[in-house]
Amino acid sequence: MKLIYQQMLSFLAMIIVALSVVSLLFIQTTSNNAWENNFRQLANYTTTIEQNAILSDGTMNNAFLDNSEQILSGQRIQFVIYDSKNWTRYPQTSSQGISSTYWKKLKKGEDVNLRTSVRVPDRNGKGTWRTQNMTIYYRPIFYSGKLAYVIGALSPVDTIQASINKTERNVFIGFVISAIAAIILSYFLAQYQVRKINRLRRATHEIAQGNYDVKIKKTGNDEISELANDFGEMTTSLQESQEEIKRQEDRRRQFMADAAHEMRTPLTTINGLLEGLAYDAIPEDMRAKSIELMRSETNRLIRLVNENLDYEKIRSNQIVLMRNTFNASDDLNNVASQLQKKADEAGDTITVNTPAELPVYADHDRFVQVIFNIMQNAIQFTQNGSITVTGRRAYHQSEFVISDTGIGMTEEQVKNIWERYYKADPSRKNTKYGESGLGMAIVHQLVQVHGGTIKVDSTEGKGTTFTVTFPDEDTAPKKTNEAADKNSQA
Ligand SMILES: Nc1ncnc2c1ncn2[C@@H]1O[C@H](COP(=O)(O)OP(=O)(O)OP(=O)(O)O)[C@@H](O)[C@H]1O
Ligand SMILES: [Mg+2]
Repeated sequence: MKLIYQQMLSFLAMIIVALSVVSLLFIQTTSNNAWENNFRQLANYTTTIEQNAILSDGTMNNAFLDNSEQILSGQRIQFVIYDSKNWTRYPQTSSQGISSTYWKKLKKGEDVNLRTSVRVPDRNGKGTWRTQNMTIYYRPIFYSGKLAYVIGALSPVDTIQASINKTERNVFIGFVISAIAAIILSYFLAQYQVRKINRLRRATHEIAQGNYDVKIKKTGNDEISELANDFGEMTTSLQESQEEIKRQEDRRRQFMADAAHEMRTPLTTINGLLEGLAYDAIPEDMRAKSIELMRSETNRLIRLVNENLDYEKIRSNQIVLMRNTFNASDDLNNVASQLQKKADEAGDTITVNTPAELPVYADHDRFVQVIFNIMQNAIQFTQNGSITVTGRRAYHQSEFVISDTGIGMTEEQVKNIWERYYKADPSRKNTKYGESGLGMAIVHQLVQVHGGTIKVDSTEGKGTTFTVTFPDEDTAPKKTNEAADKNSQA
């Protein structure tokens, strides 16, 4: 069954049940009230009769009774009076006595009210009789402790029944009108709900078709709107991850192309040189140089392969950190002097600002790798500028700032710098520094496994500043390296 009908049905069922209960209760109460009022009225009449129609000497004032009946004829009230022997004393025409069950009650002094069919004289004066459904109220009258009379007041059932029937009819009409109103209302309510769900359904369908661009507006504060909202967030993150996957894939493809290119060049060089050597095509004095060239090309290949392996290892938490606290100043100076030659070639000056003692808690070789990579990049992307390396203590950590006055990066480039295979400018490849686009990705991972932080500020055309921190032993994360250290010793 369609959701809209299900909803309508449940709304309707609820409304109809409620209406039925209310209607039944209403009819019940009004008819009870009608009967009760009727008996109360009859009781009042009997009191009046008792006070006025039965005289102190025990005789009856028939004239008063006749008058009363006449006055009340509009309400079709009749009176009957019985004596202590259950004989009718008024009206003279009546002959039926009170049944013994009620008579016993009356004798005990209890009032009796009942609904029954009685034979009543026709008022046509011909002395004929007819049966009629009547409500009767009997009141016993006692004189000095003995039952003397029973006064009965009768009114026909049909007057009350008529008013009850009228009420029932009105309630029924009300019921039908409310039910129709409920159907219309429930249709609109259900449609409102279903429309919201349908919007979600259409959106899901779109996504199933691969269109992640669907946007669902939030329309209310109910659960369905919340669901739509969550759904919207889900599509956004789906879209993001989809884009991320695509970006990774593009980068991977780019890398494969780059790697193939990188490897083909040295391999072709080596192959050419080997052929030259094999066919004695290389003059004696050039041989040493050729072998040296082959060696450096082989090293480049090895480096490319190793870096990839290294990155994967760090990323999958397989690396072993052998951490201890050492003086970082020595290493900063060492790296600076190692890179001095390259800096000179690029016309760069290197300045190292560091206190004589600068303790840092890290894996020594990895620390050097981080600083070396960042400084190497600084030189690589700076011509005739300056590179400044600053080392200092900070709160529970050591901080290293490497800044250059080189070409800098755009915001987009900064955003992607920790990505594997990322090279801000693909045309920069094939320099003497290798350029696999892995350096920063590795540095980033390394700093993270140390529990440190790395951030980069860069302005295109102005220069770049890297800030790296390494936490002290007391605040550095323990778990990875301890396990790793044990592994390494095993
Ligand atoms: N100091 C810097 N100034 C300007 N651009 C930089 C700087 N450092 C990094 N970059 C940009 O970030 C990119 C990524 O750097 P990364 O060190 O990861 O790769 P790479 O230097 O190209 O290759 P390699 O893996 O050989 O280091 C660089 O290609 C460069 O475009
Ligand atoms: Mg680099």
